[in-house]
Amino acid sequence: MLRVVGLLGLLLPGLAALEPLSVGLAIGVASALTGYLSHPRFYCSYVECCPSAGRRLNATALKLQLDTKLFGQHLAKEVVLKAVMGFSNNPSPKKPLMLSLHGWAGTGKNFLSQILAEHVHPAGLRSKFVHLFLATLHFPHHDQVKTYKEQLQNWIRGNVSACPHSVFIFDEMDKMHPGLIDAIKPFLDYYEQVDGVSYRKAIFIFLSNAGGDLINKAALDFWASGKRREEIQLKDLEPMLSVGVFNNKNSGLWHSSLIDRNLIDYFVPFLPLEHKHVKMCVRAEMIARGYAVDENIVQAVADEMTFFPKEQKIYSDKGCKTVQAKLDIHEDIVMRDPKAKG
Ligand SMILES: Nc1ncnc2c1ncn2[C@@H]1O[C@H](COP(=O)(O)OP(=O)(O)OP(=O)(O)O)[C@@H](O)[C@H]1O
Ligand SMILES: *[C@@H]1O[C@H](CO)[C@@H](O)[C@H](O)[C@H]1NC(C)=O
Ligand SMILES: *[C@@H]1O[C@H](CO)[C@@H](O)[C@H](O)[C@H]1NC(C)=O
Ligand SMILES: [Mg+2]
Repeated sequence: MLRVVGLLGLLLPGLAALEPLSVGLAIGVASALTGYLSHPRFYCSYVECCPSAGRRLNATALKLQLDTKLFGQHLAKEVVLKAVMGFSNNPSPKKPLMLSLHGWAGTGKNFLSQILAEHVHPAGLRSKFVHLFLATLHFPHHDQVKTYKEQLQNWIRGNVSACPHSVFIFDEMDKMHPGLIDAIKPFLDYYEQVDGVSYRKAIFIFLSNAGGDLINKAALDFWASGKRREEIQLKDLEPMLSVGVFNNKNSGLWHSSLIDRNLIDYFVPFLPLEHKHVKMCVRAEMIARGYAVDENIVQAVADEMTFFPKEQKIYSDKGCKTVQAKLDIHEDIVMRDPKAKG
């Protein structure tokens, strides 16, 4: 954009030699062009822009994506949709949206966060307004908590100043030093502004395995009493989850003032995935790779996974997490064995 304006600057003196009328015209054209180039619709198609205050997230599109892509998580889907719709339809939320996602390995916590982020900022995790923090990468040393706290506050302050709709995802919360997360409490509370910055449009998402054992047990109890998985309701899990996480030293939220002060809007439970969900993941992955779905391979990949508890073998140990790697191996076999290709 600057280059174009510069070019016009070079042209203008030449034009000035002509009669005043055409100079006026040239300036008019130049400013119209500059105006057009700096117009958000044009500018933001090349450079990522922070969404304007009035822009709403398309909840219909989000629901559609979750319905088709996220398997076996009726509770997580329901809670996240409710939370996000309420938040994005509210022109002046009183505090930032805070979700805490809990569940066993490979059940879709990162997957859902990614989908959600894409609906706020189309570039998703690549967006400069979406920030992913990994406890083991960004805050590895427990003796540097003080430094991390300051760093985290500066980052969040800087990022929200640049874009109020910033999304922050804290992965591996269970590996985070207890107390570190309390550094962000001032931003999460019901303040209109903190030092001239308003955090009320931001979204914070915490991911952890903490409480996964509680959720698994509840799911198994439902199964054992002959009830359908879809009958599990949020009220069967949410209270025990918030208490369990608060009292768990390895949850990243141990005795956290975020829970104490009720700043976490929703505890989102992810249920352990069954054999049939693993199969759905395999099919989805095959389609994503552009293969025809081969039920023999679907079955083979699902059968290679390990399941718990030992006797009943209902839930996948790693959810859908190793599906991609296992499919790679089968892909190799199919490639190498021409007979199997058909
Ligand atoms: N419920 C699900 N529906 C569809 N795909 C899923 C689901 N759960 C996991 N997957 C697939 O498995 C991959 C790994 O899942 P994901 O990284 O979201 O797990 P996670 O819950 O974050 O696990 P962890 O606690 O180990 O980090 C996803 O990228 C996705 O492809
Ligand atoms: C929201 O998404 C749906 C489904 O993708 C689409 O049909 C609809 O036009 C979108 N609405 C807006 C306002 O963009
Ligand atoms: C925004 O956060 C990132 C970390 O994701 C950090 O590196 C960057 O410095 C922050 N930006 C500002 C302006 O503070
Ligand atoms: Mg994860």
